[in-house]
Amino acid sequence: MAERKRILTGIRPTGSLHLGHYAGALKQWVELQDDYECFFLIADYQVSDYVDDIDHVRRSVWEVALDWLAVGLDPQHGHYVIESQVPQHAELSVLLSWYLPLGPLRKNPTLKSEMEDLERTRKSVPVGFFIYPLMQIANILMPRAHLVPVGDDQLPHIELTRDVAERFNRETGVDVFPLPEARLGKVTRLVGLDGDAKMSKSKGNTINLKDDAETVRRKVMSMFTDPNHLRKEDPGRVEGNPVFMYHDAFNPDVDDVANMKEHYQRGGLGDVEVKKKLIVAIDNLLDPMRERRAHYEARPKLVQEALEAGCKAGNAAADATIDDVRRALKLDYFDRGMPAAEK
Ligand code: TRP
Repeated sequence: MAERKRILTGIRPTGSLHLGHYAGALKQWVELQDDYECFFLIADYQVSDYVDDIDHVRRSVWEVALDWLAVGLDPQHGHYVIESQVPQHAELSVLLSWYLPLGPLRKNPTLKSEMEDLERTRKSVPVGFFIYPLMQIANILMPRAHLVPVGDDQLPHIELTRDVAERFNRETGVDVFPLPEARLGKVTRLVGLDGDAKMSKSKGNTINLKDDAETVRRKVMSMFTDPNHLRKEDPGRVEGNPVFMYHDAFNPDVDDVANMKEHYQRGGLGDVEVKKKLIVAIDNLLDPMRERRAHYEARPKLVQEALEAGCKAGNAAADATIDDVRRALKLDYFDRGMPAAEK
């Protein structure tokens, strides 16, 4: 059998995962895991904006692993890798930095807007933040990934990765890295419960994958809808209405969703009824995850085993790549021996 192509994708360990992560990434990862050899990376080097809360980051590493197990990413199939446990990432970042020019890094639109946000909210921005796209390039090239499933905000980083891989191969004359492709897939960018453009923990507008049924009920009941839909008889707006956006994302009964939209726009359908159906849809999605989570929560040793096995696989892939990289850069001094004196 031909070797399967490889995927690398990652997440920063900054808290437990929510429905936005699921709709935007995890759902797709689960679908891809049978067709590729997958490296799922917990990027605990990419936390320079969390140095004042390192305990939170450490806890989040385990939370992310549990969330992954809960959504059904199979650790027998793919590899759960903790970035820092494969310290070769640091070496590769340094060596690849030679092939990443400053100009394109500075111009990277995702990095640029994140840096601007940080500059507004902090006194200083760490260099470690500025170079996170470089570390991400090392993440992707380490297992020589062919495909990187990500959200569209990450596209500029994948572009840089291709450029660096291409330049490395060209300048060393050794084809060490395949040029990775981004895969956007059919992902949904989920708005927050409050209608904010993004579901994010810092805004407190998330439904977490680990939320129990009562929490989901309470959160959905408090969701923003059409602010002008005051009485049930009034016609309501469906576009831009978070409750209907969530129905589109999570309710598999598309006919019923279409009917509800029509009824809501016509008038006569109350928000409570629409929300109750959304609660059912979300619980149907989360119930199997809750079951798997309970299984692993009761058996923390299995979580640890998944992480340890994944890091071992990550290390094996890294050793092979670093060997090739060192040889391509002629850093294998003692295999080569002392060169003849230059004349
Ligand atoms: N920066 C990515 C994010 O915030 C997470 C990440 C780290 C990543 N390393 C990666 C994504 C490598 C893809 C590939 O979402």
